[in-house]
Amino acid sequence: MASRLVEQLGAQNAAGATAAALAGQIRALILDGRLTVGERLPSERALALELQRSRSTMTRVYSLLERDGYVTRLHGGSTRVTLPHRDALTYDTEVDSAIDLSIAAMDSTPGLYDATVRSLPRLAALRNTSGYSLRGLPELREAVAQRFIQRGVPTSANDIIITSGALNAVNLVLATIARRGERALVEQPTFPHALDALRRNGYRLLPTPVGGDGWDTGHLTDLLLRAKPLVGYLIPDFHNPTGATMTDADRERIAATARASGTRLIVDETTSELDIDRGWTPLPLAAFSPEIVTVGSMSKIAWGGLRLGWIRAERSLIDRLLAVRPSFELGTALLDQCIAVELLDEMPALTEHVRTRLHAGRAAVAAGLADIGDLQFPRTPGGLSSWIDLGAPISTRLSLAARDRRLIAPPGPRFSTGGVLERYLRIPITHPPERTTEAMARLQQAWNDVREGASARPAEATHAPVI
Ligand SMILES: Cc1ncc(COP(=O)(O)O)c(C=O)c1O
Repeated sequence: MASRLVEQLGAQNAAGATAAALAGQIRALILDGRLTVGERLPSERALALELQRSRSTMTRVYSLLERDGYVTRLHGGSTRVTLPHRDALTYDTEVDSAIDLSIAAMDSTPGLYDATVRSLPRLAALRNTSGYSLRGLPELREAVAQRFIQRGVPTSANDIIITSGALNAVNLVLATIARRGERALVEQPTFPHALDALRRNGYRLLPTPVGGDGWDTGHLTDLLLRAKPLVGYLIPDFHNPTGATMTDADRERIAATARASGTRLIVDETTSELDIDRGWTPLPLAAFSPEIVTVGSMSKIAWGGLRLGWIRAERSLIDRLLAVRPSFELGTALLDQCIAVELLDEMPALTEHVRTRLHAGRAAVAAGLADIGDLQFPRTPGGLSSWIDLGAPISTRLSLAARDRRLIAPPGPRFSTGGVLERYLRIPITHPPERTTEAMARLQQAWNDVREGASARPAEATHAPVI
């Protein structure tokens, strides 16, 4: 079995590369988060065998990485990933005027300030309580339950826990049901930090493909029945990064199959309200099975700065979640919850604003890409981003070249389980049109650099989240 390093590197990329080039590729994997800090790398001997290169080349590769602070070699011979301690590591977007496409999110909704002011009396009324809110404010849980009811899923406030965002919700669910070494079905591509969370909880990941056209439902259901994974993590609405939406028929089939295979589906609805012009409204997956866990968030419809999300689950799981939660946090900030009560009252205004912004962002990406030779713009009816087919496996090279052009764009493999998806690049449609236009101009320069074979310089990249 290939080591994770070689899996991420791709043996074909290593063939014939010089020690310096190999070190550069490994450094890019580290900066990109595909090799994680603290992760143990294969020994020089094992790596030499795997890549069919000489031991002395591997010694040189690790020495270069060690010199630059990207690995440490411990007594006993193990080599682990580290990060250099220097300020230059963080790409300073202010100073370097880099445009950062690693975060697909909008700035706050215009009503945020007024909602905050309106929320203050509610917060003030809570001053005589302890302030710890493990389950969440009753009126907020009721408002979230009402959203589910409006979308066709009977829900009570007791089926809801308020969390500090959707990723926090995913982590709470995983911490509660995790059994190390179990299998987890994941979409490929998917939201990278969900992959990180699953890995950290000891899961072995089983990918199932998703493209702009949606899911390969035959593959997904076969995988469920064959591998019987303990959990499956799905983003059925405006999937990040493809923008695809699952049909109702697929939802029904997948929910029924997951029941049969004993798989707990975690359905992430963080992106579910990001509709530009889909033209139809699906039923939430939770409508098809009581065992489905749904997580949601205000991050994409209101503001990521709110750190406000939720979990909807059957009552027995809610009880287990509440028992586990205090082991790592004691609830969600009351101010954020009070603001969310106000905002959930204005959903039509929030979604209308989001639609207008995404519409403009999508148009700017389409216009910018039209100028870049052979790139196809897959039209997305909503969501955070467009998932571009580059026509060749050059995503990491393009991403590195883009950094030299002051554009941060994580390569396709960042959204995958095993270093694949080198043909794809995610371009957010969430940025203001002017910034997107400039970003696309820089992408065009990087594209030309890659086509002309200009070398990319990975040294000043950032080790940053991908949202
Ligand atoms: C699918 C998905 N889930 C979760 C998150 C993170 O959500 P939150 O900010 O609520 O933790 C994101 C952010 O992009 C996302 O795309």
